[in-house]
Amino acid sequence: MHHIRLDSDTDFDGWRKAARELVMADVAPADVTWTVAGDEPELFDAPGLAPGEQGFAEAAGPFSQPASPSPTQTFNVPARFVDLAKTVILHRDPQRFAYLYQLLWRLRANSELMQIATDPDVARLQAMAKAIRRDEHKMHAFVRFREIGREPKSRYVAWFEPEHHIVELAAPFFARRFADMAWSILTPDVCAHWDGHAIAITPGVAKSMAPSEDRLEETWLTYYASIFNPARLKTKAMQAEMPKKYWRNLPEAALIKPLIEDAERKTHAMVAAQATAPKKPQRQEQPMAKAKQGGDSLEALREQARECRDCDLWKPATQTVFGEGPQHATVMLVGEQPGDKEDLAGKPFVGPAGQMLDRALAEAGVDRGKTYVTNAVKHFKFVPRGKIRLHQKPNTPEIKACRQWYERELATIKPLLVVAMGATAAQSVLGKVTPINANRGHLIERDDGPQVLVTVHPSYLLRLPDADAKEREYARFVDDLRLVAEHLKKAEAA
Ligand code: URA
Repeated sequence: MHHIRLDSDTDFDGWRKAARELVMADVAPADVTWTVAGDEPELFDAPGLAPGEQGFAEAAGPFSQPASPSPTQTFNVPARFVDLAKTVILHRDPQRFAYLYQLLWRLRANSELMQIATDPDVARLQAMAKAIRRDEHKMHAFVRFREIGREPKSRYVAWFEPEHHIVELAAPFFARRFADMAWSILTPDVCAHWDGHAIAITPGVAKSMAPSEDRLEETWLTYYASIFNPARLKTKAMQAEMPKKYWRNLPEAALIKPLIEDAERKTHAMVAAQATAPKKPQRQEQPMAKAKQGGDSLEALREQARECRDCDLWKPATQTVFGEGPQHATVMLVGEQPGDKEDLAGKPFVGPAGQMLDRALAEAGVDRGKTYVTNAVKHFKFVPRGKIRLHQKPNTPEIKACRQWYERELATIKPLLVVAMGATAAQSVLGKVTPINANRGHLIERDDGPQVLVTVHPSYLLRLPDADAKEREYARFVDDLRLVAEHLKKAEAA
């Protein structure tokens, strides 16, 4: 009996070398056992055969001829077999090495065997190769990255449990698709890492090593819910494409059941609803008053900002999203940057964060219509993920490049109070990185500008996972906004 020990689950070169030596030494498949280092009882030490004793040549690639082959002891291995073997070796079935050797052994006597699709050995290996390709496809479709750290040092990390040993096979797809992101895909078998230059493979890890939440999660869920089309729902087809076993690692999976349940009602509503007129994509007219004499008018600023090319964010974005509100607003609310909905609509805070803001403003007694609402950065920064556009935090050069527009809005409107919501807004408004918690909740007096109130960004509230924390933080946000209400009252009374 020959016990062959391979270096790893995907050790194709090791299998090829051993198989070549075995077949040339006329060792029948029944006389060989195959194991992978770490999986086998220590008792088996794999002697294999003395290399180079005998050999065979192949029509293609990796089955190279040993140093001094005897022509009578060689045979051609079809290229199709080599390709098949490279794929099948990735299968999780422990018998894969033996199945491959069995077919190799038979090919020696019948080199046409690969053409016979009904041959049981060929058919079995073809089915295994198909399972590998399907698993690779599933990995491409169902890996979900979560951001760790903050740009520019952030890394996107995903947890995935492939059915077969396909991580190295599937990784180049992610390197092409997410070439400018640093990412890691963690699995129990091996992990793949990309640093923008090369893929590195390291040993597998436990699921607890993978992040489960990040600030993109809420955006992702919002997108998923908004692109979900109830009229096109085919539950069976959807589950065939996205089998339930993948659901546990998909953030959007929690939405699937309620969305399906809601689909019928929504479909009826869609059928009953009147057709909507197509939207004109360009030039949104805003109810902007002219600025005071000598200053920029908001309209003129808006026109100029439309053409801004001072950083690269304009390239993939739909349009510049400029601020909106009355010319003589005494309060200016500043967010981070437009999101997906805002980018499409050309208006600030009209998506989920905007709804959260509206609710909190109303509860605090602030009329949004009396405030000027804008963002520190005027273009939507995102990474595409299939049909989805995932929000990316703007970096310092982008915030600085856009600050001129905030300054010009400020100079035109001359508000008495500026509310900076979140870290990006605080950085732009105060001109330096400003921790939110240490500075929130009170008015900051400044020599060279209006008073500033720092508070959290409404998206932060959307992302909080636990209901208690959400409620508590929402109440704090409303409390901060009450200072705005008081301020407005005083301004109106004056
Ligand atoms: N988040 C922001 O900071 N601004 C918007 O306009 C929308 C979401």
